[in-house]
Amino acid sequence: MRIDDVALKSKELGYYTYFPQVRSACGRDMTLVDGRNMLNFASCDYLGLSNHERMKESAIAAIRKYGSNIGGPMIFSGFTEYHERLQNSYSDLYAGRTSLMFTTSYQANFGVIPLAAERADLILLDKLSHVSIWDGVKLSGCPFRAYSHADIEMLEQLVQLNQDKKILIITDGVFSADGDVADLGRIVRLKRFHPCLEIYIDDAHGVGMLGSSGQGACEAAGVVLEIDYIVGTMSKAFGSSGGFVVFKDEAFAERVRFRCPTYNASRSVSPGVASASCTALEINASEGGARRAKLADLTRYTHEQLESLGVDKLHSRTAVIPVVFKDPMEAARVNAELVGKGIMGSLFVPPFVPNHQSRIRLCLTYNHTMADVDYCIDSLRKII
Ligand SMILES: Cc1ncc(COP(=O)(O)O)c(C=O)c1O
Repeated sequence: MRIDDVALKSKELGYYTYFPQVRSACGRDMTLVDGRNMLNFASCDYLGLSNHERMKESAIAAIRKYGSNIGGPMIFSGFTEYHERLQNSYSDLYAGRTSLMFTTSYQANFGVIPLAAERADLILLDKLSHVSIWDGVKLSGCPFRAYSHADIEMLEQLVQLNQDKKILIITDGVFSADGDVADLGRIVRLKRFHPCLEIYIDDAHGVGMLGSSGQGACEAAGVVLEIDYIVGTMSKAFGSSGGFVVFKDEAFAERVRFRCPTYNASRSVSPGVASASCTALEINASEGGARRAKLADLTRYTHEQLESLGVDKLHSRTAVIPVVFKDPMEAARVNAELVGKGIMGSLFVPPFVPNHQSRIRLCLTYNHTMADVDYCIDSLRKII
């Protein structure tokens, strides 16, 4: 069953929960259009910044000064001081590396992968890579092989079999639907045996959530300097909007600025968004560590509780936690009952995930409490 069928059938059965109409800011809880208040496990607001006073104030100040939009793509119509500061803030976060800002990280993958692929003869990617990676790979026209999810032995074999080729390895850092983390240490070790190999990590969920300074899964694995391309987003842990790519090869990044249509033929984020993103990175520098520590405690606690409940949560060990069901309609039913108890998760069915691994994805944020988690687990216990 695919998502459109699940949606239709859910409507018949009264389980439909997609496209909820929300009438409150993104936070620990959310108010629906009919006035119901829900505990919100459906946002990726990992550091709890989306509705932070400083973020809102900085967006308003930028809008007052520059209005709600810039004149066109930055290449022709220019950019504000907020865009410039944001660009520099990405580089600061990654110790001076060259970076480019994108309107979304979807656009970053879709635009940069085809250019990175021009430097390769073969792309090897994790089968569960995000759809934006897949779109970029298909657009590139470069030959590719997908290795089974997290199967580094298979990846090693594919690299060995293709010693004569220039290879680009692409994977999520933190996987968006499974919540597990790619074994970046082992992937980086492949460079020792294969000098013509580049590594591209889309860490949309990892940046801000992992690593002592918030650089994400690459920092947590101690491999930031070995990665050729790191993609991040401001739309999850950092509570704003916009994507970025950090490049190892500065000269190549400069070429991307001119050759990448999703960079130079699409409008950048508005001044308000750019300003809020700058503030998010300032907050990350001053209190990100404390926010991540609290989130990590909550994550550990939630995993323990779910383990005692005996649910299948695959190999997640992050704040992205799937609760898996063998049948999509069973997942839809449990999800609808959770909504009935005031808990909003995200229902993932094919094509996002395999049929027999349909799931409710629960995302934890800094603003949740252990009592929120207890209520969610207790509700799941009663329903399942
Ligand atoms: C792994 C991954 N990459 C990219 C994206 C796109 O993020 P953005 O909102 O910046 O386009 C997502 C969003 O769900 C994602 O999970």
